[in-house]
Amino acid sequence: MEENKLNLNNIYESIWDELLSGAFNRKHPFHLCFFSSLSADSLAPETRIVILREAIKKNLHLRSNCDLRSSKTKEIEKNPETMLMFYDSEKKVQIRIRALSKIVRDKKIVEPIWNNSQEISRQCYYTPFSPSSVLKEPFSNSLLNLKGKELGLSVFGLIVSTVVQIDYLKLKHDGHVRCEFRCDKKRLVKSNWIAP
Ligand SMILES: Cc1cc2nc3c(=O)[nH]c(=O)nc-3n(C[C@H](O)[C@H](O)[C@H](O)COP(=O)(O)O)c2cc1C
Repeated sequence: MEENKLNLNNIYESIWDELLSGAFNRKHPFHLCFFSSLSADSLAPETRIVILREAIKKNLHLRSNCDLRSSKTKEIEKNPETMLMFYDSEKKVQIRIRALSKIVRDKKIVEPIWNNSQEISRQCYYTPFSPSSVLKEPFSNSLLNLKGKELGLSVFGLIVSTVVQIDYLKLKHDGHVRCEFRCDKKRLVKSNWIAP
């Protein structure tokens, strides 16, 4: 990610370029997203990795897939306030994104994405056990219902996060670069340099 003479607009554009690459390229560091929500009962933070599947700059959307039975689904449906974090260790760039997230269950939207996903990814959704449920034995793929296409699709959902604020930090030996971007109504409304 190049700052191009430390121009805020260039940094903002480059963030979206990198998020787009992260969504398409499995090897890109932004393919993995550290996703935080607030636990449904105690409002304590919960963080887990999800795969970034789509980044759409024009409506400030970031999308991941999820199991509709998972804790994060309940958490997001109770409270849409979420944080998404990405880190590129080579470029030493951290991106923290505050977003309002929602769970998409509508099969008209979900099914084409399910149909386009790889079988290896779909298999995660063939389990009859809800994520976090207690098992009598360690989980193994032999417990999967491999004829579970219907089960898989029925529990497959999307997390769509609308970006509200981006905090960008790049570590540099001659001075760390940090700035923030605020978005509203699907567009960038304010950019600032901030102290690292
Ligand atoms: C590399 C990696 C990628 C993952 N990708 C996803 C994902 O895209 N969607 C998802 O729901 N869980 C994904 N997980 C599993 C979550 O981190 C988490 O363990 C699981 O979803 C249960 O989280 P929850 O109980 O907080 O809902 C991934 C885990 C790892 C280690």
